[in-house]
Amino acid sequence: MTGKEQTGRHDRYDLVVVANRLPVDFSVRPGGGVDWQRSPGGLVTALEPVMQHADGAWVGWSGAPDLASDPFDADGMRLVPVTLSESEIERYYEGFSNDTLWPLYHDVVSTPAYHRQWWDAYRRVNQRFAEAAAAQAADGAVVWVHDYQLQLVPRLLRELRPDLRIGFFDHIPFPPVELFQQLPWRRQIVEGLLGADLVGFQRGGDASNFIRAVRRLTDYTTRGPIVTMDEGRGRQSGTAARHVRAGAFPISIDATRFDALARTPEVQTRAKEIRAELGDPDVVMLGVDRLDYTKGIRHRIKAYGELLGDGRIDAARTTLVQVASPSRENVGAYQELRQQVEVLVGRINGEFGELGHSAIHYLHHSYPPEEMAALYLAADVMLVTSLRDGMNLVAKEYIAARSDEQGVLVLSEFTGAADELGAGPVLINPHDIEGTKDAIVTAARMTAREQRRRMRRLRRKVIADDVAKWSHTFLGVLQAMPRRTSPHAPAPAPSVGGGVSASLVHALDALATADGAAVLVGLDFDGTLAPLVDDPTASAMTPAARAAVDRLAALPGTRLRLALVSGRDLADLAERARPPAGTYLVGSHGAETGHVRPDGTIEAMPVDLTPEQSAALAAVAAGLEDIAAQTEGAWVQHKPSAAVLHTRLAEPAAAAAATARAREIVARLGLEAMHGKDVVEVAVLAADKGTALARLRDVVAREGDGGTRPVHVLYAGDDTTDEHAFRALGAGDVAVKVGEGATTAAHRVADADALAAALARLADATAWRSGEPLTGA
Ligand code: G6P
Repeated sequence: MTGKEQTGRHDRYDLVVVANRLPVDFSVRPGGGVDWQRSPGGLVTALEPVMQHADGAWVGWSGAPDLASDPFDADGMRLVPVTLSESEIERYYEGFSNDTLWPLYHDVVSTPAYHRQWWDAYRRVNQRFAEAAAAQAADGAVVWVHDYQLQLVPRLLRELRPDLRIGFFDHIPFPPVELFQQLPWRRQIVEGLLGADLVGFQRGGDASNFIRAVRRLTDYTTRGPIVTMDEGRGRQSGTAARHVRAGAFPISIDATRFDALARTPEVQTRAKEIRAELGDPDVVMLGVDRLDYTKGIRHRIKAYGELLGDGRIDAARTTLVQVASPSRENVGAYQELRQQVEVLVGRINGEFGELGHSAIHYLHHSYPPEEMAALYLAADVMLVTSLRDGMNLVAKEYIAARSDEQGVLVLSEFTGAADELGAGPVLINPHDIEGTKDAIVTAARMTAREQRRRMRRLRRKVIADDVAKWSHTFLGVLQAMPRRTSPHAPAPAPSVGGGVSASLVHALDALATADGAAVLVGLDFDGTLAPLVDDPTASAMTPAARAAVDRLAALPGTRLRLALVSGRDLADLAERARPPAGTYLVGSHGAETGHVRPDGTIEAMPVDLTPEQSAALAAVAAGLEDIAAQTEGAWVQHKPSAAVLHTRLAEPAAAAAATARAREIVARLGLEAMHGKDVVEVAVLAADKGTALARLRDVVAREGDGGTRPVHVLYAGDDTTDEHAFRALGAGDVAVKVGEGATTAAHRVADADALAAALARLADATAWRSGEPLTGA
């Protein structure tokens, strides 16, 4: 490419993604032009829509040695190649990235090698990536750096361009500090990451491992997920402290696109063909992995081989298809693994294969998405047995492909996916070969009905929490991070937009400035922070609400306390709302209470039921399950002290019949039900949001030094159940009704975004008073 073309659509870009690999494979023509082909990685599909929308540039390596090219445009993105020499590929990519960091970060399942020359190359190459990103980013742009190959880039980039907002996402696990500290350059890596404003991880556990590493290896102060940088020096030099936030943002796939692909006639036909080509066995099992020692491929094949040997699985009627795509073939540990897997497969096939039937079909290739979708459809049992895995997107692809609601996912506990997918898969510890064998047998024999029950649940989750949501959430939180401002600069007057009345502004300012009093901000979730949607598993805070909540939580000091108060059960509330550390949680309309620990995990108070209440709950839950089993689209939600029949997705007539039957059961058991829209909720513990809020006020009053302090409450909610909370408020408190309808609340806002504007006002007024930086955006 020459001349004008090289300047691209812009000189500078508002969003720059920096990843080890470019999202295309390309080669340079002898005359200087570029030929490129999309490479179908997960990250491309994740970021493509955001990139195209935001005028993005992508900085990365082509995958080949010494391939130099000017930036070029492809698929609506600006692609900026970073050139790596043979020796840099050996030292930075194969060496430090994949023979040092990769095994270290995956629980040292293979032994990491530490070489100073590799580290030097890693530093040099990270510097090159940082310079390339700095050259592309517009003033104040957002730069999103990805993965373990580029952990020094955030700091190097901040040194070059302090004006940028920098996010980092680690796609692989972050190890416990006890392992991480093996790394001779551990401190430099932590400092490198702390150059970002937001450091994202797959799981809460990874984020807390990182925070522990910061505490152990640096002198920075941490409060929950927030690290405060340059505090002491900042005060003297007149610049304000900078805050870095760590958090969990589990990645996903483009589930809708994959679901649609798997529904096409071509893929459906191909799935049938695959089964026929395999000799129409009763059970097809499938493994799909990069050929990597973290994936537990040997453990899986060993368990399978033993089951054939024990006769618990019939070799003549069962087949395992193992797709193992080639990966990092110049790294010794990968060469050894290939050797071991191939010997094992050969041995099992030698022992159990017949003419025309192999026990294991081992395929050392990659396949296009269409073929993968057909394989998923053809597989009765999907085996994911990783010894450690950041997320494992294969598990999510399998679920997205199964719109027939059949198929069983056997899933290792050591994947990020297991943290997210909960009870739907058959979970295993892949080191426990006996347990894994039992799980495989359970999966192979599971009834169609049980498969459907589990798969439905999994699909709801995977389709709701897709990759677009992942990138939006990450970028939303990044953009809501406060900008560094000088404490000596005059504070801009807090501004309010979005339909907040003058009287509410006045009330919020009074809350923020009440001397000696703590402020408890109690917020309902559905309909208040998150717009109401048909599928309750799909509701999420609006980006503005998310930003306001995170900002309130990040305010320093103990004056302001945040609580989410919901009818959802606590676990469900925590999962949907992803509350920031330090938030109090009230679930099941007050029957459950809990707290988000600094590491992001949830501490839930046990719900104590009397034996009678437990028996009543079991009876009503069983009754509702029966109804759901006979009603297409209905399902039962189990809470610690209640059972809920949901009929939103059922045909109206069937929903009405199911509701009538539920009433009968409830009456027969002598219980009372709460009827909502397409919902019948039966609780065995009396609870309401007002009582819960009053209790919480007491808790906040007693926090700290043993005495008590006055607490003013701001409560916002949209529903009739929130009226209980409004009624528990008194003088000096602020009640905000969200949306229309009768209320006893003194203030009203139209929707979640208007509430977010009010919360932002409260945050600004509180921060302003304590001299903290205000949000820049
Ligand atoms: C993992 C890493 C990615 C990497 C991919 C493929 O998913 O998190 O950063 O790109 O593996 O590995 P490769 O070494 O071929 O890029």
